[in-house]
Amino acid sequence: MQKNAITPTFRITSSIIDDHINAEKLIAEFQSLKVKNEPAAKKLFLKIKEELMVHMTKEEEVLFPLFESRTQIQGSGPTVTMRNEHKQISALLNKMEKTLRNPKRNARQEAVMEKELLKLLKMHEEKEEEVFYPWLDKMLPEQEKKTAVAQMRN
Ligand SMILES: [Fe+2]
Ligand SMILES: [Fe+2]
Repeated sequence: MQKNAITPTFRITSSIIDDHINAEKLIAEFQSLKVKNEPAAKKLFLKIKEELMVHMTKEEEVLFPLFESRTQIQGSGPTVTMRNEHKQISALLNKMEKTLRNPKRNARQEAVMEKELLKLLKMHEEKEEEVFYPWLDKMLPEQEKKTAVAQMRN
C-alpha cells in the first residue's frame, strides 16, 4: 500500500526565528567580547547593527505588505505598531554605535542600553514569532510564502 506523502508545510515563522536566534547569539558574543577584545567587539557591533537593519527592512518591504494587502489594514493595526518598534530599535542601535565610537565611553550607560535593546527585541520578536508570522503562515499559499522568504534572503 502506498503511503500518502506528507508535504511539510513551509513556514515563514521558522525562517524569521532563525534570524532572531542568530541576532541573539551575536549580541551575547558581543557582550562577552567587550571585556576581552574591544576593537573586535566594536566590529561585531557594526555587524549586528547591519544584520538587524537588513532584517527589519526586509520585513517592512517584503512581509508586512503581504499582510497589509490581504487585510487592507494599513493605517493602523499590527504592522504600524511593528514599524514603530523597528524605529525604536534602529534609533537605539544608532545611539549605541555613537557611544561605542566616543573615546570617553561610559560602561554603565552602555550596559543600560544593551539591556534596553534586549528588552525591545524580546518584546518585538515574541509578537512576530507567536502571533504575526504564524498568522501570515496560515493565511498565505505555500508558493507565496516560499517566494517571500527567497526575497527576504536576497
Ligand atoms: Fe521585526
Ligand atoms: Fe523580526
